[in-house]
Amino acid sequence: MIEAALEIEALKKRYGEIVALDGVDLTVPRGEVIGLLGPNGAGKTTLVSIVCGLRRADAGTVRVCGIDALADPQSARGHIGLAPQELGVYPIDSVHQNLRLFGELCGLRSANLQSQIEAVSAALRLTDLMDRKAGELSGGQKRRLHTAIALLGEPHLILMDEATTGADVETRAALIQVVRDLAGRGSSVLYSTHYLGEVEDLEARVVIIDNGRIIAEGSITNLIAGNGGSIVELVFNGKAPILRGLDVTVDESVVRVRTEDPGREMGAIFAALGDEARHLQSVEIINPSLETVFLELTGRRYEPEENVDVMAS
Ligand SMILES: Nc1ncnc2c1ncn2[C@@H]1O[C@H](COP(=O)(O)OP(=O)(O)O)[C@@H](O)[C@H]1O
Ligand SMILES: [Mg+2]
Repeated sequence: MIEAALEIEALKKRYGEIVALDGVDLTVPRGEVIGLLGPNGAGKTTLVSIVCGLRRADAGTVRVCGIDALADPQSARGHIGLAPQELGVYPIDSVHQNLRLFGELCGLRSANLQSQIEAVSAALRLTDLMDRKAGELSGGQKRRLHTAIALLGEPHLILMDEATTGADVETRAALIQVVRDLAGRGSSVLYSTHYLGEVEDLEARVVIIDNGRIIAEGSITNLIAGNGGSIVELVFNGKAPILRGLDVTVDESVVRVRTEDPGREMGAIFAALGDEARHLQSVEIINPSLETVFLELTGRRYEPEENVDVMAS
């Protein structure tokens, strides 16, 4: 029981000219939740797919519960529950049939299979939907089924790749609760998401990946403490004006002012703006949070693109 559930060292992966993973080191200790954050194209899905043996690495090592997952993907896979970014259930089968099928695939049998199905469907509020065809579920319901499948058999390592994309508020709350419970019982979770608030709710240790490299990691508190204070974000109609005497970064029509005390800074900001205030479209105070950390580290905001919800049929 000493080794970590997942240990990745110097992992590299290219797709032709594109460097998707550029030497990633990452450890998920037992019973911990790691929030994996990164913008689109950062390499999160590639990382998760390699751990599961769905894609091949170019270099590096991956150990799952001590097993060399690159040399023996099948044994490693036995310890992993995966909720992939793309949904994959059998649409014409019922919720119950899907759970049975995937449960059998991960080696669960008869009585044990039935009790596992009952447990995961209760946790993810699927009990009343058991006879519905998977293809006829709403987006949020499909996400719940998808996650239930990943959790069958209480795997040691749970990989969730943007599992809440397109999910409703209630589904997200249920998922967060399930993840917390599982970690409490000793499972380890690598949780990638487009929603910073979820990682805050999970009180997870955070790893931030950008361009295939880990650019920061630590507890939420430490990351926030180490990456500046509040930000006042000013959005203009057209090109942003130059503001003198303030700690600013400019990104086309957006000016961000770093400050320890946004309330107090407002006067100085408007004084510096003068007449240019006419072109102001919005002003937002972003308090110290994972959002300000992400802005500080990447110069970008971490907002979810409004989902073109592929499952909302
Ligand atoms: N099958 C693929 N073929 C070519 N390029 C890919 C493929 N999958 C991902 N990529 C590229 O690799 C990079 C990382 O992608 P991905 O791992 O999907 O990132 P994320 O999940 O963080 O959005 C991106 O630049 C993406 O365009
Ligand atoms: Mg992805």
